[in-house]
Amino acid sequence: MVTDAAVRIEGLVKSYGDLEVLRGVDLAVSRGSITALLGANGAGKTTLVRILSTLGSADAGVASVAGADVDKEPGKVREAISLTGQFAAVDEILTGRENLVLVARLRHVDSPRAVAEQLLARFSLSDAADRRVGTYSGGMRRRLDIAMSLIGEPPVVFLDEPTTGLDPQARQEVWEAVRTLAAGGTTVLLTTQYLEEAEQLAHQIAILHEGRIIVDGTLAEVKALMPPATVEYIEKQPSLEEIFLAVTGSSMATPEELS
Ligand SMILES: Nc1ncnc2c1ncn2[C@@H]1O[C@H](COP(=O)(O)OP(=O)(O)OP(=O)(O)O)[C@@H](O)[C@H]1O
Ligand SMILES: [Mg+2]
Repeated sequence: MVTDAAVRIEGLVKSYGDLEVLRGVDLAVSRGSITALLGANGAGKTTLVRILSTLGSADAGVASVAGADVDKEPGKVREAISLTGQFAAVDEILTGRENLVLVARLRHVDSPRAVAEQLLARFSLSDAADRRVGTYSGGMRRRLDIAMSLIGEPPVVFLDEPTTGLDPQARQEVWEAVRTLAAGGTTVLLTTQYLEEAEQLAHQIAILHEGRIIVDGTLAEVKALMPPATVEYIEKQPSLEEIFLAVTGSSMATPEELS
């Protein structure tokens, strides 16, 4: 058991009517680590994150974040966290900079403009700072979304499926942003459907399946549970170009070259 846990969950139970979504979830997340909560569609990832961020309540069990009980001390929990939801919460009409300044003002931080400037630089958005967010790519939006969640420097950050729906390039950008976050000492709990994402980012991997955490450990520990890798030989169909090269010894001519 992790003693210095930023997030601690014990026996958490949650049902929607007859649907038992969480059936006794136990999990501890170490301070300053990145933990990936892996689960299929409908596994209950968002449900769990909502309970941890005081947006939903559990039927039974206890959970604490940054030492505060989510049920008994929701105000304290809210002060310690930020939540980036499954769908980006950025305002499309405002520019990247305006979005950040707006949130900084709402959270009453000192010198909102300076904070916005630092975050734009940290998430490689300085060049796009004065463009409307409506013109941003998916990866840029997500990065801005994460940057917004950091205003006020919450020690614990929840990211609900930060890269779902992004292309590989944008996914890499978000991963970089998450690594930057953790390098600064923030505890990150992210949910994902992608094993690869957990592999790339997480110090700790927890798999939520049928309402329980069925696997919990470091990447090496989780991998040790899997059957050893087998080598498969897959017959590759040669491309027309390769066949042409093989039979002629030169590359395929374009129609223009033939005429
Ligand atoms: N407010 C609600 N009322 C009724 N059922 C709900 C509610 N919220 C979630 N559910 C159901 O609970 C289950 C878990 O949903 P949840 O959104 O937590 O899953 P998830 O792991 O986040 O899935 P996804 O990967 O699709 O985001 C699903 O079957 C969902 O339909
Ligand atoms: Mg979800």
